[in-house]
Amino acid sequence: MAISFEGQVALVTGAGAGLGRAYAMDLAARGAKVVVNDLGGDPHGVGENRAAAQKVVDEIKAAGGEATPNYDSVADYDGGFNMVKTAIDAYGRLDVVICNAGILRDIAFHNMSEDDWDKVFAVHIKGSFTVLRAAWPVFRQQSYGRVVLTTSSSGIYGQFGQANYGAAKTSMLGLMNVLKQEGAKYNVNVNTVAPVAGTRLTQTVMPQEMIDRLKPELVAPAVVYMVSKECQDSGLIIEAGAGNFNRAAIVKGPGLQPGMADAMSAEWCQENWGKITSLEGAEPMWRTGQTLANYLAEKAKA
Ligand SMILES: NC(=O)c1ccc[n+]([C@@H]2O[C@H](COP(=O)([O-])OP(=O)(O)OC[C@H]3O[C@@H](n4cnc5c(N)ncnc54)[C@H](O)[C@@H]3O)[C@@H](O)[C@H]2O)c1
Repeated sequence: MAISFEGQVALVTGAGAGLGRAYAMDLAARGAKVVVNDLGGDPHGVGENRAAAQKVVDEIKAAGGEATPNYDSVADYDGGFNMVKTAIDAYGRLDVVICNAGILRDIAFHNMSEDDWDKVFAVHIKGSFTVLRAAWPVFRQQSYGRVVLTTSSSGIYGQFGQANYGAAKTSMLGLMNVLKQEGAKYNVNVNTVAPVAGTRLTQTVMPQEMIDRLKPELVAPAVVYMVSKECQDSGLIIEAGAGNFNRAAIVKGPGLQPGMADAMSAEWCQENWGKITSLEGAEPMWRTGQTLANYLAEKAKA
């Protein structure tokens, strides 16, 4: 059956271009009323321009959908509240938040300034906090919410010159892992996408031919599904784009448990390093001390 967002309201940050625009357009085409947030600065987080968000709102309306612009910065605590207020004032509720706004300040670590670090963290991780902190009471009150955060293979796996960006993007996983637990009893699901697409952000690192082929629309289906009522999963990392969809996970290996009676030596660790580092039989976790498999079994019983 077609996935519909009729009667639902979505807020997409950084939706004035690239991936965010593709999510907003797809959601609106499926009946969602969309708050299109975008500060409209350059890829390094400098400047602002209302035209970005307004253009996507105009596109959505021209296609027969409903949308309202918001021009606040996600890095601004009051901005987060204002985005949620925009949704409530215009449409009376908020069902979906996609934390997508992003900037890049690529530079080798030995040349990275405090400002390069702070600006990237402000937009990505604080910028997800501000919006979700404002949306959370609404989700709890209506016992429903769907969230997608945006991580990156640059952080999950590593990318030269992106210490600030990689660290900020991987912080999303920590945020997701906690919010998936805090949201569980209120039917608030929190998942994360690791996209790849030809956009303004990747223009500096990809040849034009690749930019043209890696359309953001190749990512959008995974994100749109994850924020639908049909998706019951929470806490997943999904890589999407370039004709690929897969799950990535942080897993815990079985390791060795020599007990606490005797403290082991560094030499013992050296001797047993193969077993300590082995991922054979590794499992994803739901929370500290509990595997996902155990959590799902308990949930099924309940
Ligand atoms: N394109 C990729 O391959 C790729 C890969 C991994 C992760 N990502 C992530 O996907 C997200 C979308 O990136 P994109 O590739 O579409 O880039 P993009 O530059 O086309 O879009 C990002 C948008 O965020 C907006 N924005 C920036 N700072 C903002 C702020 N403070 N407040 C509100 N809006 C702000 C920008 O104006 C821009 O329109 C980002 O979080 C990015 O880090 C992209």
